[in-house]
Amino acid sequence: MSHHRHFFRAFLRNSGKVGAVAPSSPELAKLMLEWMDWDSIDCVVEFGAGTGVFTEAVQRYLKPGGRFFAIERDPVLAEITRSRCPEVDLHESCVSRVATICREAGIEKVDAIVCGLPWASFSSEVQDEFLDAMFEVLPEGGQFATFAYWQGLMLPAGQRFRKYLRQHFSTVEQSPTAWKNLPPAFVYRCER
Ligand SMILES: C[S@@+](CC[C@H](N)C(=O)[O-])C[C@H]1O[C@@H](n2cnc3c(N)ncnc32)[C@H](O)[C@@H]1O
Repeated sequence: MSHHRHFFRAFLRNSGKVGAVAPSSPELAKLMLEWMDWDSIDCVVEFGAGTGVFTEAVQRYLKPGGRFFAIERDPVLAEITRSRCPEVDLHESCVSRVATICREAGIEKVDAIVCGLPWASFSSEVQDEFLDAMFEVLPEGGQFATFAYWQGLMLPAGQRFRKYLRQHFSTVEQSPTAWKNLPPAFVYRCER
């Protein structure tokens, strides 16, 4: 079965947590990653790897010797990413455990987070829980990329998340739109 089919099935099983009907496009992966200062990144973490579109791309940007692990809660999607990117340390877990995973791996700080979580589908309590978990490991100067669908901006949760980013990051820039993505999306490029 293709990655798209597995992804759509995961959406049918758990639409609120998967938050998309199809994996992201290579065009969106480029917008997520091309702006980051990869020379300064020694450790990067991915939230919500899905079928591994961003995971695969991060490997191309990461400098030799850089550390990278990804977290994905859905077991079927986690297995797909594992077989697509066997060199990547993939944790089938919830992003709320990121600090524990870092501690267990002996990682003291994370320089960048590449995030595929569907923020506009989450309640305010869940948004807060995952943002707090992220700030436990991302220090001042840390880079954060996450994408949003244009229609998600019309939802109160999408608006709330956008406001939160502006309040908690020193820089928040918006990328051009990835029109070939299903649906079209843009990236929030943030620095703490
Ligand atoms: C919108 S999809 C994006 C997947 C992939 N990054 C992409 O762009 O194609 C969101 C992904 O986040 C995962 N996810 C949702 N909540 C999560 C959580 N609490 N911890 C880890 N992964 C989570 C979902 O299972 C899903 O694979």
